[in-house]
Amino acid sequence: MKLVVIGCGYVGLVTGGCLAAAGHDVVATDNDSGKIASLQAGRIPIYEPHLDEVIASAQNAGRLRFTTDTGEAIRSGEVIFICVGTPPRETGEADLSAIDNVARLIAMEARSPKLVVEKSTVPAQTGQKLRRALNVYGRSSGLQFDVASNPEFLREGTGVGDFFHPDRIVVGVETPEADRQLREIYEPIVGGRFDCALHPHGCPASPDPEFLVTTIPSAELIKHASNSFLAMKISYANVIADLCERLGGNVEEVTRAMGLDPRIGRQFLNAGLGFGGFCLPKDIQAFIHLADQVGVDFSLLKEAERVNRQRIDRLMEKIRHHLWVVKDKQVGLLGLAFKPFTDDIRLAPALDVIRQLRAEGAKLRATDPEAMERTRAIFPEIAYSGDPYEVARGADALLVLTEWPQFKQLDWGRIHREMARPLILDARNMLDPLTMRLQGFEYDSFGRPAVDASVTAESAR
Ligand code: UGA
Repeated sequence: MKLVVIGCGYVGLVTGGCLAAAGHDVVATDNDSGKIASLQAGRIPIYEPHLDEVIASAQNAGRLRFTTDTGEAIRSGEVIFICVGTPPRETGEADLSAIDNVARLIAMEARSPKLVVEKSTVPAQTGQKLRRALNVYGRSSGLQFDVASNPEFLREGTGVGDFFHPDRIVVGVETPEADRQLREIYEPIVGGRFDCALHPHGCPASPDPEFLVTTIPSAELIKHASNSFLAMKISYANVIADLCERLGGNVEEVTRAMGLDPRIGRQFLNAGLGFGGFCLPKDIQAFIHLADQVGVDFSLLKEAERVNRQRIDRLMEKIRHHLWVVKDKQVGLLGLAFKPFTDDIRLAPALDVIRQLRAEGAKLRATDPEAMERTRAIFPEIAYSGDPYEVARGADALLVLTEWPQFKQLDWGRIHREMARPLILDARNMLDPLTMRLQGFEYDSFGRPAVDASVTAESAR
């Protein structure tokens, strides 16, 4: 099928690339001509594992092309996926102006009926407004536009795998024709008939994803409800971590046992510095705003958000407790991205930690495998190094802010020798407390009891 993707950000690129890999003809467009030029030249403007392979092979196969000519793109396809950004306003409400602009463009440029699919995360009822905008702006052409909602559940860092191997595909539709078209689009994914960039020798056996057909408001709600629930789960684990610190429990033992109950599940119960990125924090705010607007009390979510904001304060308390005076202390930062396997620093907790440490006069040196350049653009005054040992050199404390697996593999004996004071504050519970203590570090993390290495080593003898 001939498909159009409007918006070449993260969601647009993964969606366009993977749908082309699934055998469709995809034209992707964006109003950022620099971005399109770079994509045409084979340069992917974001770091996302496997996305470059997927896009390159789809381009080589002639199934994916990029253009700045949005009108031509719109006319070339039967189904248009809107993947533009919906950033938060000051109030937390989602800014839908890009969707509105795209609706106007589609209505004015189309010469035949289209199915217009919202892929961007939007508040419930946007579908109705989108249909109205399409019909109002397109009234002179007399064309009828069909609208659908197809929320994405892609996690940055594993987006390609999530697209090819989803748990569920949700489509909110108003007509049997939209249902039919979306089934056809996703048929290769549901039936496992596509070139999988992750598993070139065959994908491991897994249950077929559920293809769920709902109303448009339900599909829109499913997205916000899912992300907000995940955010709540993380905040819940973080409060349990605080309780463990006060009561002598170990949050890892508690959440592991909780997660073995299939009604709870193991994922998203990792305590630490809390959630960041451009999805969970923004979606929870938009959902709170939407509930307020329609008079539904969602204090539950407000609390989850408040708990998340407090994680930075909790880390700062630990830093002050250990360092006593923060001013002029040399602090090394391991990790800047909001999570591993991405260069995305939008709403990354590390940025708030940097702001606070700078306000208190600490001297900072930071490293991250992918996110240093983006962070440098915001904080040019910090020292950056690709070498974690250099970041540790002469430091009074080293903070783990993103749990990149390569940090775990560091030569911690060497880190110990490099540091002025061997103090590790592990805000992602990445390292093992006993191992760190046995290596002679002062070590603290979230919700895991401090281990006295001398006593433990003694009793082990
Ligand atoms: C999230 C959802 O997981 C996706 O399903 C959704 O499609 C996406 O938002 C979106 O709306 O587009 P993402 O923002 O890429 O995906 O990242 P997550 O893996 O959800 O992590 C979010 C944050 O929570 C990270 O800062 C991570 O470090 C933190 N987190 C995650 C925890 O603190 N604890 C956990 O147990 C899990």
